[in-house]
Amino acid sequence: MSRSPDQRRKRTRIAWPAAVLLLAGGAAIVQSTTPAAAAETTLRAAAAKAGLFFGVAASPGRLSSIVGQEFNQLTPENDMKPSTIATSSGGLQNTGNADTLVNHAQTNSMLVRGHTMVWHSQAGALQGASQATLNTFIGNALTRWGNKVAYWDVVNEALDDNNTGNRRTQWPHSLNRDANGDGDLFDATDTDVIRDSFTRAKQVVQANGLTTKLCINDYDVEGLTVRGGTANRKANALYDIVRNYRQLIDCVGFQAHFNDNPNSIISDDLQANIQRFADLGVEVHLTELDIDDDLSNNDIGQGQADNYRKVVRACLNVAKCTGITVWGIADSESWRASERGLLFTGSSGNYQKKAAYTAVLDELNKGRGGSSSTPPVPPSDPPSSSPSSPPAPAGCTATVSLNSWTGGFVATVTVTAGSAPVNGWSVGVTLPSGATVSNSWNSSATGTSGAVRFANASYNGRLGAGQSTEFGFQGTGSAGSLTPTCTAT
Ligand code: XIL
Repeated sequence: MSRSPDQRRKRTRIAWPAAVLLLAGGAAIVQSTTPAAAAETTLRAAAAKAGLFFGVAASPGRLSSIVGQEFNQLTPENDMKPSTIATSSGGLQNTGNADTLVNHAQTNSMLVRGHTMVWHSQAGALQGASQATLNTFIGNALTRWGNKVAYWDVVNEALDDNNTGNRRTQWPHSLNRDANGDGDLFDATDTDVIRDSFTRAKQVVQANGLTTKLCINDYDVEGLTVRGGTANRKANALYDIVRNYRQLIDCVGFQAHFNDNPNSIISDDLQANIQRFADLGVEVHLTELDIDDDLSNNDIGQGQADNYRKVVRACLNVAKCTGITVWGIADSESWRASERGLLFTGSSGNYQKKAAYTAVLDELNKGRGGSSSTPPVPPSDPPSSSPSSPPAPAGCTATVSLNSWTGGFVATVTVTAGSAPVNGWSVGVTLPSGATVSNSWNSSATGTSGAVRFANASYNGRLGAGQSTEFGFQGTGSAGSLTPTCTAT
């Protein structure tokens, strides 16, 4: 298997300003005494360092070298949709294109987002199918690719247009039944295509020991508000669904097709909306990002590059926003070519970077912390009276979530302080023989194989009681099942 540029690159650490001078009144001046870490030069490397994936929608005819160079996640734009792969009884057919894309992703160390199982559009032979047939298809699709698909969109576009906050009425939503007429589909006696599809998917994941994460995906759900400041009822309806089915749903996709539609704008509360979903415990992805360049009337704000920067920053600022996928490489090949909404011009493998590309790369290079000039959390105030004995050391715990593919893996580790605050932490894992850490983020690694230890970075060591932070690492070989141990330092 060929190794990607960011796997080959030696592990680098983000350099943070070394000194913070606290002035009277609380203002802080940052003195940078260490040179900034060299900026990464591809989207995937910059994203990996920040602890998220940066992906692209792809088709077999568009697998030019740029796909593996710039992106570390791939979503089949059309080739895993029921219209391509489903038979009317829920079997699989015509999986060749999907296989090509999955193989390309594996060869280039890219995660795959499977897209999509239950959808009113491009339903093909499943149009009008029963829940039982949908369940058969869900089982077949999940087991066909197993852990080669890290995330699957189980349900796509369940909610209606025009900010009604209602479910769609067309199939498969006609499978829904509000048994007691109380206006929701959350009661045990209701039938709900969302709940029933995720229930089936979760069963299949568990029965087969898969690590595949199960996502719900929709559009016009990005902000807390829509144009004019009206509440985003569609986003609120999605939030209710995820909250009610939290045990079944692992991840939420905001499609992020931003354009002139009053419900499709980039609002200032995008980050707050990502955060409230993240606070439910799910991962959030921006799954189909494109941004209308809006040269016609500039009503989503002037400057496509700045708009991209704003959207990428909103994701970076939320630790559980773990991936961004652009819906194609070049404007001319986009499903919405007239909006010129992507990061490259050109076509057929001959692509040129736009200002939007440079803005995204730059923002990713600033990392989760905001920017290389963002002050780290200043030291806490000295205690007003000297304690007679130092406070008891506080404990911490660590849990790991693994995405593995043949020959590689990404581990995301959540560190949580115990009942008392911690000033620093260190997490140990023992890798099976043959596995090697190639890259890590939000921590400083000691060792690359066998017993490896990850200490907090300068900016994420202090945790309040019960507070969590995340770090991650990428490796080659097989991680097996990792058991992390956390030590407060
Ligand atoms: C689009 C593809 O980009 C087009 O090539 C195809 O003709 C129609 O579907 N929401 C989704 C995606 O979830 O699957 C859609 O993709 C775009 C809108």
